[in-house]
Amino acid sequence: MSKPVAVKYNTSYPSIEDLRNKARKKIPKFAFEYLDGGCNEDVNLHKNTAEIRDVELAPYYLSKHKGSNLQTELFGHVYDAPFGIAPVGLQGLIWPNSPQILAKAAKEHNIPFILSTVTTADIETISQITEGKAWYQLYHPAENDVRDDILKRLEAAQYPVLVLLSDVPSFGFRPRDIRNGLAMPPRMTLKNILQIMTRPEWALKTLVHGTPNFATLKPYMPKGLNMKQLGLFMNRTFAGRLNADKIAPIRDKWKGKIVVKGIATEADTEMCIKLGVDGIIVSNHGGRQLDAGQSAIKSMNPIIDNYKGKIKIMMDSGLRSGPDVARVMASGADFTFMGRSFMYSVAALGNEGGDHVIAMLKTQLQQVMDQVCCEQIADLPKHLIK
Ligand SMILES: Cc1cc2nc3c(=O)[nH]c(=O)nc-3n(C[C@H](O)[C@H](O)[C@H](O)COP(=O)(O)O)c2cc1C
Repeated sequence: MSKPVAVKYNTSYPSIEDLRNKARKKIPKFAFEYLDGGCNEDVNLHKNTAEIRDVELAPYYLSKHKGSNLQTELFGHVYDAPFGIAPVGLQGLIWPNSPQILAKAAKEHNIPFILSTVTTADIETISQITEGKAWYQLYHPAENDVRDDILKRLEAAQYPVLVLLSDVPSFGFRPRDIRNGLAMPPRMTLKNILQIMTRPEWALKTLVHGTPNFATLKPYMPKGLNMKQLGLFMNRTFAGRLNADKIAPIRDKWKGKIVVKGIATEADTEMCIKLGVDGIIVSNHGGRQLDAGQSAIKSMNPIIDNYKGKIKIMMDSGLRSGPDVARVMASGADFTFMGRSFMYSVAALGNEGGDHVIAMLKTQLQQVMDQVCCEQIADLPKHLIK
């Protein structure tokens, strides 16, 4: 029998669904719905997980097995597991200090943490916590000086990988957030105040850590904006579509790796290869943008068939367990990411949440590897039942 990964998790919450249920009870409804929801009728959200779970693996029980190794090499770094933490905006609204909590856990478990442009911790703080290991996700700014200044800060903070987001040409139509009047900072309607009053720990922690704000963007924001002006500023600064004309100059300037996130077609994969991009994350933003789109795993399959080895192919959207990571890696991905799974855990368990969820996912993945008799993550595709 192989040696289990030396990790401990909280046995009261052995699944992402347990963490999601606990999170629902711990944070105000508007914050939970912001995290949990998809867009429009949530069709894409549900298809993402369901279609990952159509993937089946063959266990070769009678084969020799020296032990399972979760380590996975990507962009010259050997990570301790083939999954990382996807960028999530407004994390401090979901749980105070959550980007710091997750960045610290990612560093300790040696997995990648991707910092969002629009989250509540800044470039420099996260670089320090992760000792220069975090990746950065850029919402492409409308103004080139803002872009260049962010790139300068990233280089100074030694970020190895820059992730360019492609799937938000306009914001997803999200009925819950529209109903809740979700804004930054949260709009203090009577409804929202009542929701906060029923979640005292969240309220107290938010008070201690201060109102969440767009930490990385502070230097570019005029001071003293009211809520409406802040909304206009964000729309003006980050509106617009990523395209070849925006990627090419970044490729010229940025010496590190470039990943484009939100790819769903072979045509866009081909364009990324032509532009000298190092990797793509096949993703539909966790079902938050195009409800009529395909599930991420369905989008990924033809991309793997035609472009594997020509560019690193990663995937997120819908993974909620170690077996899900195994299914996606067996389907040919070079790496996987998850968004909500990590945030549910921090919302449920606070400081302990980052360590718990990573330890649990590692343990679950190790169990699958032992079960199918697979020693290396790179060998998982041999277990795929076609
Ligand atoms: C609440 C929330 C906020 C998000 N904010 C961002 C963001 O700022 N930048 C980004 O690239 N992706 C963002 N995403 C998408 C995630 O990076 C990732 O693609 C998605 O969560 C993966 O799906 P999963 O939640 O099913 O794992 C967000 C997702 C959620 C749930």
